[in-house]
Amino acid sequence: MPFDFDEIIDRRGTAALKWDKYAGRDVIPMWVADMDFRSPPAVVEAVRQRVEHGVFGYTDAPAELNAVIVAHLQQAYGWRIKAEWLMWLPGLVTGINLVCSAIGEEGDDVVTATPVYHPFLTGPVNQRRGVVRVPMHLEGNRWLWDFERLEASITPRSKLLLLCNPHNPVGRVFSKEELGELARVAAKHDLVICSDEIHCGLILDTDKSHIPFAALGDDVSARTITLMAASKTFNLPGLGCAFAVVSDPTLRKRLERAAAGIVPRVTAPGFVATLAAYRDGEPWRVALVDYLRGNRNLVMDRIHAMAGLSMAPLEATYLAWINVQATQLREPAKFFEQAGVGLYDGKVFDGEGYVRLNFACPRSLLVKALDRIAEAIVRRITP
Ligand SMILES: Cc1ncc(COP(=O)(O)O)c(C=O)c1O
Repeated sequence: MPFDFDEIIDRRGTAALKWDKYAGRDVIPMWVADMDFRSPPAVVEAVRQRVEHGVFGYTDAPAELNAVIVAHLQQAYGWRIKAEWLMWLPGLVTGINLVCSAIGEEGDDVVTATPVYHPFLTGPVNQRRGVVRVPMHLEGNRWLWDFERLEASITPRSKLLLLCNPHNPVGRVFSKEELGELARVAAKHDLVICSDEIHCGLILDTDKSHIPFAALGDDVSARTITLMAASKTFNLPGLGCAFAVVSDPTLRKRLERAAAGIVPRVTAPGFVATLAAYRDGEPWRVALVDYLRGNRNLVMDRIHAMAGLSMAPLEATYLAWINVQATQLREPAKFFEQAGVGLYDGKVFDGEGYVRLNFACPRSLLVKALDRIAEAIVRRITP
């Protein structure tokens, strides 16, 4: 079935976070990570039917949903889980904060690799933990964990390791060897791992596939809390539905205790959309990834042709991590905003000298934004 990702959908007037930031200004918003595409027709129809029912009382996960998730994880990744390992959450950021509060004590350390999605840095602080930042490094144009530095950074107060798999913002799909090395370090230092896998449906390289961290083995699973959602892949973040997969009953209890009375239930539309997405959305997802791959290739080609801009190959996500250090721009996001493109400054992710560009939009809009970036760069070097 054909899906039209070229359609321009006007999101103004829908209180869209991404677009309202620049309301009344000619700035193309490419900052926060949602897509300018309509969700799959099957999802829209399922939510429409539920809305037409018109009664919106307290709602549990539909009986079919847990079974659909179990089947999906088995089919997509060969990962066998049990329905009782699932814990429903209104979002992953809630999940990250919940995990930080449930593991260890106040004053303990949470370890992560930087640059990284900013709630990995703010979540521990919100929950009165310290953050140990282990910088990733570029080797042959590939972003890698620094395992030596990781081990050297771990203190007796380190209890939790936050992993972004696939990685936002560097776009890596970690290999079995890399994940295995992290598992070895975690076991040696008795760390719990929280693996945020929200981008796992968005692998762009056809020769790579997502490996759930917990699928490495039963011993790894026993110390892992996996966070997932249909929201990133199927563009549902405004509906607030996510889940944790936790095989260890003690860890699960700790999370449930930390959530009690604080974390709200998922809403009825959130559950319904998630069910329809995993059950009926696969043809749409395949078409989406194909379209995003085309956008990714365009971004790579255009960025490489611009003086002072570069980026490492992006294996997954729709978020380009662009190195602007050679431009010596002190405030690159402000510079590009003045040129009519709204990007995230890398500083937000502990990545100074970078900007993050969200290319999940119709290609014509992306071309317009890339033209504006290119013109701004040319104007800067030829005053
Ligand atoms: C790695 C990562 N985790 C979590 C989220 C947000 O999750 P939620 O909207 O469910 O809180 C994002 C959004 O960009 C993300 O990139």
